Amino acid sequence: MKRGIFTNKTLTYNISNNKFIKIKHYMNIDKRIEVLIDEIIRVNHAGESGAKQIYKYQAKALKSENDKNQIKAMLSQELVHLEYFDKIGKELQIRPTLMSLIWNIGASSLGVITGKIGIKAVMSCTAGVEKVIQKHYECQLLQIDDFLNIINQDNKYYKILQNLKHNIEIFLQDEKEHYECGNEYINESMMFNVIKETSSVLTKFAVFISTKI
Ligand SMILES: [Fe+2]
Ligand SMILES: [Fe+2]
Repeated sequence: MKRGIFTNKTLTYNISNNKFIKIKHYMNIDKRIEVLIDEIIRVNHAGESGAKQIYKYQAKALKSENDKNQIKAMLSQELVHLEYFDKIGKELQIRPTLMSLIWNIGASSLGVITGKIGIKAVMSCTAGVEKVIQKHYECQLLQIDDFLNIINQDNKYYKILQNLKHNIEIFLQDEKEHYECGNEYINESMMFNVIKETSSVLTKFAVFISTKI
């Protein structure tokens, strides 16, 4: 591996234990930014695509019109998020994760199962998924800021990082609202807490794998 001039430590989020760690980098700065942009777009595209599938199938499976509409409102925001990562991914020629098909099947199944159980299960799933996505987006914003603080505006990646930052900040607000909406439904019931935690674990796993392949 080429040893670049930037060997400073950077704050990085370790998804497996929910902690920020400091790691040492040996790639040059442009290569590190390129890797980060590639990972962010691929994993976020996968995440938003999964969210779309979950909400779409939950909305279909739920019985009450009121519940359906609540989920459709969140779905419409996920479609905006997905459209952005789809567009920028195509522009920058970043391929989607190789796991797309499997994640979509998994997300659709999660949507159908929780939707059939009812709105409390749906919202427990939402709280579990969005909790992970929130932390994930917060981590990405820190990583982006890390680079924006050390590169010049004439760097070829500056505008892309700014654009990603701007959009992720907006999407993060939506995901926070989704989380809060889901969390309101969670009570002491063992079953709903199990659904929430299972959804969190599955999301963490999918995020981790999608970052890699
Ligand atoms: Fe989203
Ligand atoms: Fe969301």
